[in-house]
Amino acid sequence: MTTTQSTSPGIDSADQSDPLHLIDVDHVRFNVGNAKQAAYFYANCYGFDISQVSDLTTGAREEAQYLLTQGNIRMLLCTGLNASSQASAHVNRFGDGIKDIAFTVFDAKEAYEQALRNGGESAIEPTVHEDSSGSVTRAAIKTYGEVIHSFISREGEYALPALKSGGCFFPGFEAKNYGINAYNKEHPCGLMYFDHCVGNVEEGRMNEWVQWYEEVMGFSLFKHFDDQDISTEHSALMSKVMASGNHLIKMPINEPAAGLRKSQIEEYLDWHDQTPGVQHLAFRTDDELSSVAELRRRGVDFLHIPDEYYEAVWDRVGEISEDRELIKSLGILVDRDEEGYLLQLFTMPLQDRPTLFFEIICRRGSQSFGKGNFKALFESLEVEQQRRGNL
Ligand code: FE2
Repeated sequence: MTTTQSTSPGIDSADQSDPLHLIDVDHVRFNVGNAKQAAYFYANCYGFDISQVSDLTTGAREEAQYLLTQGNIRMLLCTGLNASSQASAHVNRFGDGIKDIAFTVFDAKEAYEQALRNGGESAIEPTVHEDSSGSVTRAAIKTYGEVIHSFISREGEYALPALKSGGCFFPGFEAKNYGINAYNKEHPCGLMYFDHCVGNVEEGRMNEWVQWYEEVMGFSLFKHFDDQDISTEHSALMSKVMASGNHLIKMPINEPAAGLRKSQIEEYLDWHDQTPGVQHLAFRTDDELSSVAELRRRGVDFLHIPDEYYEAVWDRVGEISEDRELIKSLGILVDRDEEGYLLQLFTMPLQDRPTLFFEIICRRGSQSFGKGNFKALFESLEVEQQRRGNL
C-alpha cells in the first residue's frame, strides 16, 4: 500500500502573481469538546499521528491545540481552556465540528485583501506569529454558517516544505512523541490528502454560495447534480461542486430539495442549530480496499451498504482491477463515469450529533463524486436516519 503522498494536485502550477492562488490545504481546524481525548480517537481509529501540541504546558492559556497528521493531511483539534474561548462557544452550539478550512498561500495579507476586494467579509485581520525560527501569517474570511477560510503564509522553518517533513506548525507548538505514532507507522491507513470538503447550506441558498466561491475565492463550477440525480422515494438534494482555480480543492455545496420525508441535509441542519456547516471531509487513498480493511480493523463505524447494492453494481460499473468479493465483504461503493471509476465509503457521524462524517475515496480515472451511488447510498442513509428517529 502507498502510505503517503506528500503532494496534492495543483502545487506544481503555483502562480505567485495571483494572491488567491492556493498552494495547499494548510490544515482543517476542528473545534472539539476535549482535544486531548479526541486526538486519541482520530489517532487510534483513523491512523493520524499526534504530531505537535500547544497547551498549558507549552504556554497556551486560551486554547489547547493538537496537530494530527497523515500523508499531506493536517487536522488541528482545538478546545477552549475557559468558558470565554471561541472554541467553547462553538462546541456549545454545534458540538464537535469544523471551524476553518485553511489554505496555504504565498502572502496571507495579500490574499485576504484581495478576498475583501472581491466582496468577502473579514473574520480575522492579518496577524504575524513569529519567533527566532521564522513566521506564520494568518488572516481569515467568513464563508457559510460559522465556518471560515484562513489564508496562511509561512516563512523560515515554518515554510510548507519544512512542515511537510515534520517541521514546526506554528510558533508555540511542540513536537510530542506519542506511542500511537509508532503503531500507525506499522499499521498504515493510507490516507494521503484532502480530496474534497462538502458544505451543507439552507434550502434555496446553494446558488448564492456558488456565486460567492466564484466571486470571492476565484473558484469555478466543476460539476452539478440536481434532485433528479440525487433522490430516493423519500428525499432529495441538490449539489454543485466548486473547484479552486488549480483544482487543488473541490468544495461541493449541498442544499436540501423537496422530498416526501426529511433529507439528510435537513437532518444535518436540525442538529446543527439550523446553521450551514461542513458535512463531510473526503480523504484520498491509493488503495481503497487496504485502507477500509485497516480502518475497519481499528473499529471505524462505516455506513452499512445493503447486500442488494452488490446485485446491481457490476452491471453498472463493468470491469475493475479490484476483487469484487473483497469489495462486497468490505462494504465498499463503486461508481463509473466516462473517465474511469472510483471506490468510496462513508463513515458514520464522528460525534453523537448526526453532523460531520468522513469519506474514504480512491480514484481510478473518475473525477466525479459517485453520482451512481447516491440512490443506493441515500437508501442506506435513510435506514440510519430512521433508527435515530429523524426520518
Ligand atoms: Fe463526498
